[in-house]
Amino acid sequence: MKRIKAIYPGSFDPPTNGHLDLIERGSKIFDELVVAILRNPEKDPLFSVADRRKMLEAMTSGFDNVSVDTFDGLTVDYALRVEAQAILRGIRAISDYEYELQMALMNRKLQPALETVFMMPAEKYSYLSSRLVREVAQLGGSIDCLVPELVERKVREKIDVAHKFESGVQHAGKTSSESKRFRKKKL
Ligand code: PNS
Repeated sequence: MKRIKAIYPGSFDPPTNGHLDLIERGSKIFDELVVAILRNPEKDPLFSVADRRKMLEAMTSGFDNVSVDTFDGLTVDYALRVEAQAILRGIRAISDYEYELQMALMNRKLQPALETVFMMPAEKYSYLSSRLVREVAQLGGSIDCLVPELVERKVREKIDVAHKFESGVQHAGKTSSESKRFRKKKL
């Protein structure tokens, strides 16, 4: 019997409940699902790839057919390397569609044998993104129910470290706007 393996590529900085919702849905229709974190040296992420991997491993430990990996280069090359037949992506709203369609068609051009499969997360996560989680947490808002508890703790730890650093540099003679700029970059 043919077994279908899919990869779920993304940045996951940080992973959210929306990602987890999609992983759960994907694990039900694919025999095997690999959550693949892009190692992107150009971005200035909140979490290292190693941290994101640990968080995703903890979040997915309850799924027998889900594993976590990292990759660089083209997603289609990675998919072929791990012998996956499909790429799973989430679509939250129409606004995601154009970018996702473009990416899916480019991936098809690069590797026609691979299919992109779109799934919709629960509508309660339709406004949720890693970028907004970072921004809300940084500005002191609650990210409760938007990310798993362990991710929430890790985000808070990051912010506390940045705040401590900020008081440190202020004492070292930096202006408050210089400190803010530093904190924003760190987050
Ligand atoms: O979570 P994100 O940031 O929306 O994920 C985007 C991701 C990682 C899936 C996309 O940027 C990607 O596939 N990058 C790898 C490089 C690549 O294959 N580029 C061509 C895509 S058409």
